[in-house]
Amino acid sequence: MLISGNGSNLQALIDSTQAGLLAAQIVHVVSNRRDAYGLTRARAAGVPATYHGLAPYKARHPGGGSVPEARAAYDADLATLVLAQRPQLIVCAGWMHILSLAFLDPIAAANVDIINLHPALPGQFDGANAIQRAYAAFKKGEIKHTGIMIHRVITEVDKGQPLLVREVEIKEEDTLQDLEDRIHQVEHIAIVEGARIALEQRAKNIGDP
Ligand code: GRF
Repeated sequence: MLISGNGSNLQALIDSTQAGLLAAQIVHVVSNRRDAYGLTRARAAGVPATYHGLAPYKARHPGGGSVPEARAAYDADLATLVLAQRPQLIVCAGWMHILSLAFLDPIAAANVDIINLHPALPGQFDGANAIQRAYAAFKKGEIKHTGIMIHRVITEVDKGQPLLVREVEIKEEDTLQDLEDRIHQVEHIAIVEGARIALEQRAKNIGDP
């Protein structure tokens, strides 16, 4: 699993796999932020957890310089780090980096599936701060509800094929925090269902002649 923050979705997967509700095992958690609480959650659950930071890569490309080169080297090493545990499925839950082909190509070459949880409906609020943007749009009367999706990861941010979409209502009296809380509750169920769908599709595809 790739995370960057609190790891509440990681926790939902830890709980469901440990309770036998999801027939899978989390083999590695990687965070791009050293202080991500999700690393603590992983370690508490006995799951190997690694901080993979971008800073050393930027330092190697002096002058703050070509960040794309730093990011490509970072992503290539991330792929090596992730593939070392021979995963079948990579779940991105709050991973706040855009994954480049330097990561996606080796992952695809190793026939590993990769999905992402995004707190918006397909094509509505791609990219960062989706919940805040949905809330603002609702306040302006532009939307009546929002939602979340689990989608396959491609280079275009949040544009991959959705595996699962769940609508989430917004109430007139909602604060932003109310909406965030409601979205996270839906996510914690959807992340398990989305992983299950991805694994079942994988088993079916591999089973197919
Ligand atoms: C979730 O809202 C996810 O949709 C977004 O980042 C958040 C991660 O939350 N991409 P957590 O770290 O799993 O609690």
